[in-house]
Amino acid sequence: MLLVIGGTAAYHLRLEAHGHVVETCQVVTPWGMAPPIHRLSVPEGTVVWFASRHGEGRLTRSAAFVNHRALLWAAHVLEVDGILTWNGVGAIHPLLRVGDLVVPDDLLDWTRVRTARFGRSPAQRWSGPFWPAGRKAIVAAAHDAGETRLFDGGTYVVTEGPRLETAAEIEAAALAGADVVGMTLAPEVWLAAELGLPLASLCVVTNRAAGTAWRDERRDFSARVAHRALGVLLRAAAMLTSPEEP
Ligand code: HPA
Repeated sequence: MLLVIGGTAAYHLRLEAHGHVVETCQVVTPWGMAPPIHRLSVPEGTVVWFASRHGEGRLTRSAAFVNHRALLWAAHVLEVDGILTWNGVGAIHPLLRVGDLVVPDDLLDWTRVRTARFGRSPAQRWSGPFWPAGRKAIVAAAHDAGETRLFDGGTYVVTEGPRLETAAEIEAAALAGADVVGMTLAPEVWLAAELGLPLASLCVVTNRAAGTAWRDERRDFSARVAHRALGVLLRAAAMLTSPEEP
């Protein structure tokens, strides 16, 4: 079964709008309590695990304070087969606007003090940070859902937070090849890789990055972001788990 990790605005979600919550697991790990993980059964027949990275009901852990090790370890304990996640991002690439979707294919890790390993031996195979089949399914699912502003590929730069970046930092990230900026995909993807869990991300542009807001002043961290992202990821999960479409 796949795990969907909810990012921006997942704390505003009404999961019942998407399916039936069959059970909820509260996993205690060597790194503390993981957030609640719900088994969600959607009307079309897909069943996934779902967890909100930043808390439930309200934002309880902002990006820099997420306990990634607890959540990823819980995924390992529940024997999930792969992870689909959504991440709200600031747009760096000049063409990106608020509301656009990006399925990143590379990562620049500019975090400094986060723990990015469990201390087990590193994963044996390494084909880049993101799960190719997961990415492909997210792109196909977004098209199916009628999304038109979707970018297949892009580099996500991960910053340490909790503060936002300076304009100079964003300019440097742009020169380094970054298209979007966020604070959550690392160490999440490194920890998943260490446990042998493939992971793919759907990034939703919530704002233009520091110093570039003149291109689009809007900001959207509303529940709409979460419902839209979860809808796409549930379609992607159905594609990845249906026997006709391996
Ligand atoms: N910077 C860092 N993380 C973010 C941003 C941003 O502009 N927007 C959403 N997550």
